[in-house]
Amino acid sequence: MSDAKIIDGKAIAADVRAGVAKDVARLKAEHGFVPGLAVVLVGEDPASKVYVKNKAAQTVETGMLSFEHKLPAETAEADLLALVDKLNKDPAVNGILVQLPLPKHINSEKVLNAIDPDKDVDGFHPVNVGRLWIGARSLVPCTPTGSLILAKTVQENLSGLDAVVVGRSNIVGKPMASLLLAQSCTVTVCHSRTKDLPGVVRRADLVVAAVGIPEFVKGDWIKPGAIVIDVGINRVPKGDGKTKLVGDCDYESCAKVAGAITPVPGGVGPMTIACLLKNTVEAALIQKGLPALS
Ligand code: GUN
Repeated sequence: MSDAKIIDGKAIAADVRAGVAKDVARLKAEHGFVPGLAVVLVGEDPASKVYVKNKAAQTVETGMLSFEHKLPAETAEADLLALVDKLNKDPAVNGILVQLPLPKHINSEKVLNAIDPDKDVDGFHPVNVGRLWIGARSLVPCTPTGSLILAKTVQENLSGLDAVVVGRSNIVGKPMASLLLAQSCTVTVCHSRTKDLPGVVRRADLVVAAVGIPEFVKGDWIKPGAIVIDVGINRVPKGDGKTKLVGDCDYESCAKVAGAITPVPGGVGPMTIACLLKNTVEAALIQKGLPALS
């Protein structure tokens, strides 16, 4: 069925975690400290609870300290801001992640902006967004970082490639565009108002699909041999009363044309937490005034 090389995100994420575990061991041996990650969950969103549990487990598996803060859904914004302030000041906490979405009565932007930029392992703080775009050392959002690592397993040098990013979110599309520009790609960012979207995507040597619409990108939009990175995770009905996960690309038709493609699940998904762990190490290094590792 599929001619494309299938990019094994699960295996590559395991490699990234192994690298993080090595870095953590080295920091402990050479500098006498162990990085710590605090994750804050407000409310009972079932998907968020699963993510937070996985984040904590993988943090501990790589040898780091995990601090979990679970707050009731009715927590006042001022109380959440007070917790963020406490974590900002806690020297054992090198990374802070406030799980989204937050309850509606809380202003998410205000909370995210209260996180110390050097502890902002999500890379969502405007200071980190700015640092990323000017090419300064910064904490970079995890999903685009993971997507770039996957693309580079297919082709290490992306310089000069035509890259098309479908989607312009602050979490994926925009930082992805910045990372690809830094790799010397010629970058086009597409969105719902783009004229002749299939025609634009067809020019791409590298496609990153991050629109949040199930199976949106079709095989006949893909240039033969292109690298396709599918960031989407959409739960859709399977027809038998059950559901399944699909990406933002129509996998079957895209895999027939692409040179390499990420599956859903098992592509970008597992990379996100692995990159969060990487960011926690990097945050600790930034705070200690140490250079980046590898
Ligand atoms: N909820 C879903 N994805 C994410 C993420 O990457 N970061 C945070 N903070 N919350 C999320």
